[in-house]
Amino acid sequence: MVGAMKENDFGKVGVLYGGKAAERKVSLVSGAAVCEALKSKGVDAHLFDTGEKDATALQAENFDRVFIALHGRYGEDGCIQGLLEVLGVPYTGSGVMASAIAMDKVMTKRLWIAQGLPTPRYMELHADSDPLEVVEYLGLPLIIKPAHEGSTIGLTKVTSPDQIEEAYAKAAEMDTSVLAEEFIAGMEFTCAVLERDGVATALPMIRIIAPGANYDYHNKYFSNETQYLCPCGLDASLEKAIQEDVVKAYKALGCRGWGRVDVMLRERDGKYFLLELNSSPGMTGHSLVPMAARQVGLDYPDLCVEVLKSATLDYAR
Ligand SMILES: Nc1ncnc2c1ncn2[C@@H]1O[C@H](COP(=O)(O)OP(=O)(O)O)[C@@H](O)[C@H]1O
Ligand SMILES: [Mg+2]
Repeated sequence: MVGAMKENDFGKVGVLYGGKAAERKVSLVSGAAVCEALKSKGVDAHLFDTGEKDATALQAENFDRVFIALHGRYGEDGCIQGLLEVLGVPYTGSGVMASAIAMDKVMTKRLWIAQGLPTPRYMELHADSDPLEVVEYLGLPLIIKPAHEGSTIGLTKVTSPDQIEEAYAKAAEMDTSVLAEEFIAGMEFTCAVLERDGVATALPMIRIIAPGANYDYHNKYFSNETQYLCPCGLDASLEKAIQEDVVKAYKALGCRGWGRVDVMLRERDGKYFLLELNSSPGMTGHSLVPMAARQVGLDYPDLCVEVLKSATLDYAR
């Protein structure tokens, strides 16, 4: 039996934050908070902004491991993970393949569907897609969104066929891949997964109540009106069933360390649907994974240490 790792035994730790994605601002807040928390636990932690410094500078830091507090492109999609593999620096969260798949909503849905996991019906859209065919298959309202963006950027709820072209154009402006999804009317939840000692478990679910049922960029990050309930208020057996599927969904993509799955519960029949998996969740003081962790007695600094403990490489050396 190996003794428990002392909390400051991680060596020189880099907290990668900022970056070049649309979520840069959120990541700056996440990273600063993570770094402070790790320091408060005696970890030799240092901030490193991947939006301002390059790979040579990263290599020169000689970090023993890194905490990835980046969101979106380059930080959450396998790119930085690939660089860290090449440099041989263990990093938190999912590896190259799972990060890339989780970043792509279409690839994610393909794998979930193959495993029999519930996710809203969808179509990939192209410039020449016939709006009437889309409506015939998915019904109205429907959601159009870019496959690779986060934070509800470029997403439109469409209520009539003549809005499809514009919604497609808006999503296509930010992404080469666009999808349409049936609209799930009902309650919104998110469920975090945390791996401890190699075992992935779902944390308590959080119910999200956004003003006007519109959980957009503003309501996600800036509104005081969005309400978060944890415990989420669901019947315990339903919450457990969803949590089990969330862990399956996490494993289906090959995720590691931690993650967070967005879930909709349909009002008319009580069926639930998995929307997407965030492989590098927000870690601001108001973020959702810290909220769920608190519910099981894990405060913010302890959560950061737990995630840091799971740092590893795809290719052990
Ligand atoms: N099929 C859907 N039905 C109902 N609401 C949806 C659907 N897809 C997305 N939404 C809403 O849009 C938000 C963002 O969508 P999501 O797929 O989680 O992408 P991201 O968070 O990466 O922008 C969700 O939190 C939810 O409020
Ligand atoms: Mg989401």
